[in-house]
Amino acid sequence: MDVVVVGSGAREHALAWRLARGHGLLELHAAPGNPGIAELGRCHPVRADDADGLLSLALTLDADLVVIGPEGPLVAGIADGLRQNGIAVFGPSGAAARIEGSKAFAKDVLRAAGVPAAETLSVARAPCVVKADGLAAGKGVFVCRTPAEVDTALRDVTAFGGDFVIEELLEGEEVSVFALSDGKHLITLGGAQDFKRIGDGDVGPNTGGMGAYSPVPLPVELDELVERVHRPVIDELARRGCPFVGCLFAGLMLTDEGPKVLEFNARFGDPETQVLMPLIEGNLLEVLMAAALGDLSGTSISMSGEAAVTVVLAGPDYPARSDYSGARIDGLDAARAAGASVFHGGTAVRDGGLITNGGRILSVTATGPSVPAARERAYDAVDLISFEGARFRTDIAAAHA
Ligand code: AMP
Ligand code: GLY
Repeated sequence: MDVVVVGSGAREHALAWRLARGHGLLELHAAPGNPGIAELGRCHPVRADDADGLLSLALTLDADLVVIGPEGPLVAGIADGLRQNGIAVFGPSGAAARIEGSKAFAKDVLRAAGVPAAETLSVARAPCVVKADGLAAGKGVFVCRTPAEVDTALRDVTAFGGDFVIEELLEGEEVSVFALSDGKHLITLGGAQDFKRIGDGDVGPNTGGMGAYSPVPLPVELDELVERVHRPVIDELARRGCPFVGCLFAGLMLTDEGPKVLEFNARFGDPETQVLMPLIEGNLLEVLMAAALGDLSGTSISMSGEAAVTVVLAGPDYPARSDYSGARIDGLDAARAAGASVFHGGTAVRDGGLITNGGRILSVTATGPSVPAARERAYDAVDLISFEGARFRTDIAAAHA
């Protein structure tokens, strides 16, 4: 069985690792992959956004399944070209991926589906949130508590070119909830919390995510939350003729009035995937394949009941710069020997040794019987890894310790 994982981050490494684990017959491929994934399968020099290159790779390999990680290729419709050529794909069509690619489309679907969400405002008056309409790599959202912040946000959001939306500012804990869909049925995957700011105590600029933990405390059962939030969206997208096949990721604010949607993403989260994958029991490959083939009804996923924590090691100037390259990385074997999983986010191999090559370099994940136990193991493993200039948060999941 040949499976191609598309992408090159720690999320894709975690997915590849979970797919490869326990599947002796699996031939794992990645496009383009990274040095961590190269330990599990074959990496091909095809970029994640190269539609023609991916199609020809999938056809050459006679791939049984293609799993697409990042949002850019999904929103660009890369899944469509593959499907039109008879290839099974886990990942939504370009039309369905607009749930992430366009805030205006997402709001329209949410309204029609009756899912509780941040309300849209017609004027920008503090407190409020100003959001660029299209994909902006997490940089197009401006939380404004003062009139001066609104002025700055309105100026900055125009730099993104297209439209923008204004919505009410919600307060509470933020959680990410994931469910897998074949376009009709849903399987709950899990909930996790991501730490988006660069600094301890949630200060400083937003990043791609500096750590995560799972499970998270929720006011209602996870399955009920998925019924309330994901189900109506899956039904509405199907009704509109663009069924969603893939991982539907709801970013929720747990407000005093109940959970409300901040955004939907059309993919697995990064770094949430790095904590969810080690907790999955059973056959993930079978489930992704069933979703891609359009019938999840006979399948299920169970979680181990343990907890997982991941800590991201980034370069010294991240998030201002994501090109920290050439520093030697030591200690991965020791961290693994201590029981952690180390997922590569931005690494390269030079002269047979591992070096930094990116912004978020590694995701160090550990599991344990509780969040505090997993946290302790994750930080013990972090202490064993070194590269010059490494920066990481010391408070991932600390509120639960
Ligand atoms: P998004 O790209 O929509 O996930 O927004 C990025 C971050 O901005 C979220 O993770 C929240 O921390 C924050 N955010 C977005 N929308 C709101 C909102 N309506 N109220 C409060 N915070 C928000
Ligand atoms: N962890 C947030 C995201 O993947 O967008």
